[in-house]
Amino acid sequence: MNYQLLQIAALLTVIAFGGAIRKTTGACSSDDLEGLMGFKNGIQMDTSDRLAKWVGRSCCEWEGVVCDNATTRVTQINLPGLIEKDLVQTQMVGQLSPSITLLTSLEILDLGGLAGLSGTIPQTIGLQMPKLQKLYLHGNNLTGPVPESIGDMPNLQELALHENRISGSLPSSLGGLKNLKRLLLYSNQISGIIPISLGNLTNLVELDVHDNALTGYIPDSIGQMQGLEKLDLSSNMLSGGIPSSLTNLTAISVLYLDTNYLEGTIPFPSRSGEMPSLGFLRLHNNHLSGNIPASFGYLVSLQRVSLSKNKLEGALPSSLGKLHSLTELYLSDNLLSGQIPKSISQLSQLIMLNISNNLIEIPLPQEMSSLQNLQTLDLSFNPLNLSSIPQWLTSLSSLSRIYLAGCGIKGQIPDSLQTTESPIQELDLSENLLSGPLPTWIGSLSQLYLLNLSRNLLDSHIPDSLTNLSGLGVLDLHSNKLSGSITRVFDTEQGNSGGGSLTYIDLSDNNFSSGVDAIGVGEQLNMQYLNLSHNLLNGTLPSSLGRLNSIHSLDLSFNELASNLPEVLAKLTMLERLKLQSNHFSGNIPSGFLKLRKLKELDLSDNVLEGEIPKGKPLIDFPGSTYSGNKGLCGKPLGPCKF
Ligand SMILES: *[C@@H]1O[C@H](CO)[C@@H](O)[C@H](O)[C@H]1NC(C)=O
Ligand SMILES: *[C@@H]1O[C@H](CO)[C@@H](O)[C@H](O)[C@H]1NC(C)=O
Ligand SMILES: *[C@@H]1O[C@H](CO)[C@@H](O)[C@H](O)[C@H]1NC(C)=O
Ligand SMILES: *[C@@H]1O[C@H](CO)[C@@H](O)[C@H](O)[C@H]1NC(C)=O
Ligand SMILES: *[C@@H]1O[C@H](CO)[C@@H](O)[C@H](O)[C@H]1NC(C)=O
Ligand SMILES: *[C@@H]1O[C@H](CO)[C@@H](O)[C@H](O)[C@H]1NC(C)=O
Ligand SMILES: *[C@@H]1O[C@H](CO)[C@@H](O)[C@H](O)[C@H]1NC(C)=O
Ligand SMILES: *[C@@H]1O[C@H](CO)[C@@H](O)[C@H](O)[C@H]1NC(C)=O
Ligand SMILES: *[C@@H]1O[C@H](CO)[C@@H](O)[C@H](O)[C@H]1NC(C)=O
Ligand SMILES: *[C@@H]1O[C@H](CO)[C@@H](O)[C@H](O)[C@H]1NC(C)=O
Ligand SMILES: *[C@@H]1O[C@H](CO)[C@@H](O)[C@H](O)[C@H]1NC(C)=O
Repeated sequence: MNYQLLQIAALLTVIAFGGAIRKTTGACSSDDLEGLMGFKNGIQMDTSDRLAKWVGRSCCEWEGVVCDNATTRVTQINLPGLIEKDLVQTQMVGQLSPSITLLTSLEILDLGGLAGLSGTIPQTIGLQMPKLQKLYLHGNNLTGPVPESIGDMPNLQELALHENRISGSLPSSLGGLKNLKRLLLYSNQISGIIPISLGNLTNLVELDVHDNALTGYIPDSIGQMQGLEKLDLSSNMLSGGIPSSLTNLTAISVLYLDTNYLEGTIPFPSRSGEMPSLGFLRLHNNHLSGNIPASFGYLVSLQRVSLSKNKLEGALPSSLGKLHSLTELYLSDNLLSGQIPKSISQLSQLIMLNISNNLIEIPLPQEMSSLQNLQTLDLSFNPLNLSSIPQWLTSLSSLSRIYLAGCGIKGQIPDSLQTTESPIQELDLSENLLSGPLPTWIGSLSQLYLLNLSRNLLDSHIPDSLTNLSGLGVLDLHSNKLSGSITRVFDTEQGNSGGGSLTYIDLSDNNFSSGVDAIGVGEQLNMQYLNLSHNLLNGTLPSSLGRLNSIHSLDLSFNELASNLPEVLAKLTMLERLKLQSNHFSGNIPSGFLKLRKLKELDLSDNVLEGEIPKGKPLIDFPGSTYSGNKGLCGKPLGPCKF
């Protein structure tokens, strides 16, 4: 025998021997086998077909099952909804069988993201599976409470039950999970209080219970969780104050307490060096009051801060200028007053500043001109009495979204907006005192996506150049004195964006008199909202109107439109609101209107319509006022027709 053959023979022996080992170790203990089969029997559908191959007794070889070779006990079940190696999403539909608890040596149970597991978490899980380290049942359809017995799993490190329909209150036994690092219970229907005992979880790194129905106070004991890096209690019904013990969370990086009923003042930081890693802070949508503390500047790691929608008052502390990492600052909808501190100019990383709806006064500090990374500035609805747009604002090199609604700006739309350093993408100068024309140069703002000049005193035609704005998505010019034709709005180039980018047009409450025949002629296939009401528009509706097949809301009321109601309206099956009242529409209501099944609001009153209202939903469900003031409509909901 030559050397090569010897090698092959050796290899064959290894393969045969290896195979034999696998055969003898393939079987798991009979309890585990029973537990696995019970689990499999609970599942009606498995899009991954993993369970179909669970046959025979060699359960240690089944996909998703891992055994301890020495004891033949099953230690892991790994059947996640997302199969990482192929990145495929799979689904299992069925009941989570209580027999899963027969697997008493299990260390990892991963049934996360399968979408369709229903039933409850077995009440005795903690007592029967004391070795469990990781329990992932998130992203399913589980109901019932978090079992009290979960507190009896001394080895548990990760508990992920988020995105189910779990209800009931949090068992205080959770506080006994000494080794727990991650507790994820968000997006369920959990109610009751946060147990004080949670403070005992000193190894916890992440606590996320957002989007539940928790009530009561945030316990002081939370401040004992020395290892906590992420705390998310947002979108619950928590009340009371923010505990000052939070200043003890030395590792905290993400703190989300927004969208609750929290009151009192912001208690942190009490001195420099506290919460040194806090980067992301959300306290918006609460009832917080008092000042933004002068000590706020000690939170030097802050990157994104949202304090909007509270009752915060007083001046912005000048220590804000010390937050050198700050990129986004949201302070809108408070009672903040005084002037913007000059120190704000030191926030060189700032991208977004939103102070809308406060009581901020002029002068705006000239120093703001050094905010060279600022992309979005919203100072709307402050008693700023700006009179004109500050010159420095148009020279900010990154600013492309400018919101200065309700700031008392007077005169014509300033030409300086034509030549801003950064091309304007969003411009909201609504509710000011702007007068004169809509300038022709508007058409040269090639990046413009949103233009809101509503509630001013503009009194020109719409310039032809508007057709050049191929990326325009939102156009709101309502409540001005604009006149002439609306044609230009409907033949914007909209070329390269496949079906058009315009989704929202409000030209209502002006003096426009012509151009309805242009509706739908361009590419407006994504239009969702069109309001032309309260103008002097005459003529007939074109059949191209039927091309707006994404439209949700169409308001043409209070115009001079005549002719029959066009049949093409019946093609607009996404319509939820249709308002055609106070025009001169005549003839019958087309029976095609019965196809508008999503319609929630309809007004055809004060026209010259006649004949029978088509019998059927949704038309017969509207009140009589929908049809009143016409020439001769009859049938439900009005009186019967007399033929
Ligand atoms: C158990 O045996 C299998 C098959 O021989 C092997 O692949 C696996 O690595 C072993 N596991 C442990 C933990 O030793
Ligand atoms: C979730 O459960 C409800 C009833 O318990 C059922 O109607 C629904 O289809 C289930 N969802 C999935 C994705 O299985
Ligand atoms: C756990 O928390 C509760 C309530 O705060 C407390 O009474 C108990 O002594 C704590 N247990 C331990 C072991 O720290
Ligand atoms: C912070 O922790 C220290 C020591 O553990 C404690 O004495 C202090 O009372 C805590 N502070 C707050 C505000 O709870
Ligand atoms: C500023 O905040 C208000 C209120 O939260 C919000 O409505 C508005 O859209 C924000 N402005 C910008 C430009 O995002
Ligand atoms: C607004 O400013 C103008 C001058 O710029 C001043 O005449 C006027 O009184 C101010 N209005 C208010 C309400 O402060
Ligand atoms: C335009 O501004 C007005 C007044 O500020 C506001 O009511 C309206 O919602 C804005 N339009 C759009 C499309 O955002
Ligand atoms: C609009 O575009 C046309 C050709 O693309 C150009 O001739 C015209 O000057 C542009 N108008 C404005 C106001 O930019
Ligand atoms: C609108 O047009 C009518 C008639 O053309 C005119 O009488 C009226 O003054 C105009 N209204 C405004 C606000 O310009
Ligand atoms: C259309 O605009 C008018 C006047 O601006 C307003 O009263 C009406 O509510 C708007 N219609 C819809 C459907 O939003
Ligand atoms: C619409 O009104 C304009 C000006 O008010 C008038 O010139 C035109 O003839 C009218 N068109 C129709 C179809 O009534």
